Amino acid sequence: MALYGEKFLDELLSKINLVDIVSRYCNLQRRGSSNYWACCPLPGHTEKTPSFTVNEPGQFYHCFGCGKGGDAIRFIQEVETVDFVDAVKILAEIAKMPLPVQSEKDAEKSKLLKNKKDRLHDILRETAIFYAKNLYDEKALRWREYLAKRGLDGKTVKVFGIGASLDYDGLPRHLKGLGYTEEEMLEAGVCQRSERGKIYDFEAERLIIPIINSMGKVIAFGGRIYEDKGFGKYKNTAETVIFNKKNNLYGINNLKKVKQEENFDKVIMVEGYMDAISLYMAGFKNVVASMGTSLTLQQAKLLKRYATTVLVSYDGDSAGQNATIRSLDIFENEGFEVKVVSLPDGLDPDDVIRKYGKEGYQTLLNNAQPLIDYKLSLIENGKDLQDVSERRKYVQESLELIRTVKDEFLKEELVKKVSQTSEISYASLKRDLESGTVTVKPTQKKEEIVVKRVKNNATSLAERVVLWAYVNDKDYAHDKDLQLLNFTDSTRDTIAEHLVYDEAGTVKPRLYKIVGDEGLAELDAILSCGDIIPSDESDHKRYFYDCYNAVRKHNLAEDVKRLNELYKLELNQEAKLKYAELIAQKMEEIKNV
Ligand code: UTP
Ligand code: MN
Repeated sequence: MALYGEKFLDELLSKINLVDIVSRYCNLQRRGSSNYWACCPLPGHTEKTPSFTVNEPGQFYHCFGCGKGGDAIRFIQEVETVDFVDAVKILAEIAKMPLPVQSEKDAEKSKLLKNKKDRLHDILRETAIFYAKNLYDEKALRWREYLAKRGLDGKTVKVFGIGASLDYDGLPRHLKGLGYTEEEMLEAGVCQRSERGKIYDFEAERLIIPIINSMGKVIAFGGRIYEDKGFGKYKNTAETVIFNKKNNLYGINNLKKVKQEENFDKVIMVEGYMDAISLYMAGFKNVVASMGTSLTLQQAKLLKRYATTVLVSYDGDSAGQNATIRSLDIFENEGFEVKVVSLPDGLDPDDVIRKYGKEGYQTLLNNAQPLIDYKLSLIENGKDLQDVSERRKYVQESLELIRTVKDEFLKEELVKKVSQTSEISYASLKRDLESGTVTVKPTQKKEEIVVKRVKNNATSLAERVVLWAYVNDKDYAHDKDLQLLNFTDSTRDTIAEHLVYDEAGTVKPRLYKIVGDEGLAELDAILSCGDIIPSDESDHKRYFYDCYNAVRKHNLAEDVKRLNELYKLELNQEAKLKYAELIAQKMEEIKNV
């Protein structure tokens, strides 16, 4: 059930001007007829030369520096670090638009759901307070000693809201006293029912670590047993209406707070609750925990709101495991700069702090390896390079990895490294690198998202002018058939497809959504064509025709090229003739354009 309908959102966006909204946060300077520029106002990005643009006709922003972009709602989400719903509220207030009244039935339903959720949040909060108070009970002495032994001071215990459960029935009794039903306790995940039907504390007799979301609400608990056994050491609240482990990161609430005080763009990612707490206490406050090693896409996306670089600091023994590598790839695919902090075998970040102090951990951070170097070192690990066949394997695997790298300079560096390690000449490695088949790896996506540089050649220019005319619904554009054209860029193709099937008027306001993040720079270039088109309207038509014909010619020439290839490859004489005919036909068309 969507909270805000499309109609309401469209109206809201039409009532505000993104230029005014953004101006509240930075000093926008006009350049050209449709663009404004400023130093990026978004958290996590500081710069001295402006790379943040607002496109007024398209009502979207795009930062060439940090790669972020979107409409006014997205801007508020980013700049205020709020969720979609709150961003809409903020904008509605600016636009002086009342929030939509839902149909009675919907309103009733969502009110019920909201009441229910509110009550569950309340139970979780009350439970957290109950546990926190328990910690000072005489029965919690062993827990206080335990925390002291682990080096946690009182301030840290408070910041993280650490508490204790003392028995099985204290919590349900307490919650009942506050007026909550057993069903609600079960639904909030704080209690469970025994086989004999008795309700009891789900985290009974454990040390309690509350999990708090970015809005500061307690959503679940992790409970630790006293003994130091490995498996089953922690028990987490099961999935509930408000808790989904996959969507949350431990410590995100503190991260958000810290971000408001000091601007950082790097975040440390650890596995465990205790690692996050320990690092925070040692002064590494930009830290979150994935609560185990298997990072999810949603967690990476959540983190993206706060940082652009992630320092993955997983336990010494988990380095190189498949789950870890997968997490690293998820980060990279989400556009993070990924660095790997290698820890001594068998130690986790908390152990490192306690054994070597914060200086020791800082040294490890300083030596964090870029992801590609780390992957390269994994390939080397465990191989005896004196052995010829192992050395060959090392070289093969390394080159395969290096082929996925786009940056030529980095490629050279890596080949040099492999040459040193393997004692095989640089020139011969370079030859192998180029002759091998290129394997496509998912890591490609990163560069497309962050820095999809716009191409600038004559064909690109012509294609943009054509699209500009259709987007702006120019009369003369209807003399020509857009459907006949193919574009040399996927963003342009996407836009054209929508313009073929929809009225320009309805396409234009949705453009930034249609093209997605990776297409914003290109969209910007298209909408900015107004600046290069002749200022005299009567010349527009001619200019458009020239551009349209250039694109059409280019398309036909490409067709001819392709048909020639086919012609050459075809062995069957009859088919060969068909191709020849088609080629002649296309050539004729080119002449007539
Ligand atoms: P760790 O065992 O590395 O946790 O598991 P830790 O925080 O270092 O634990 P101690 O207190 O110092 O011994 C990493 C994370 O995996 C999840 C928890 O979120 C934990 O913090 N986990 C681990 C569980 O959910 N259940 C378990 O049984 C173990
Ligand atoms: Mn630990």
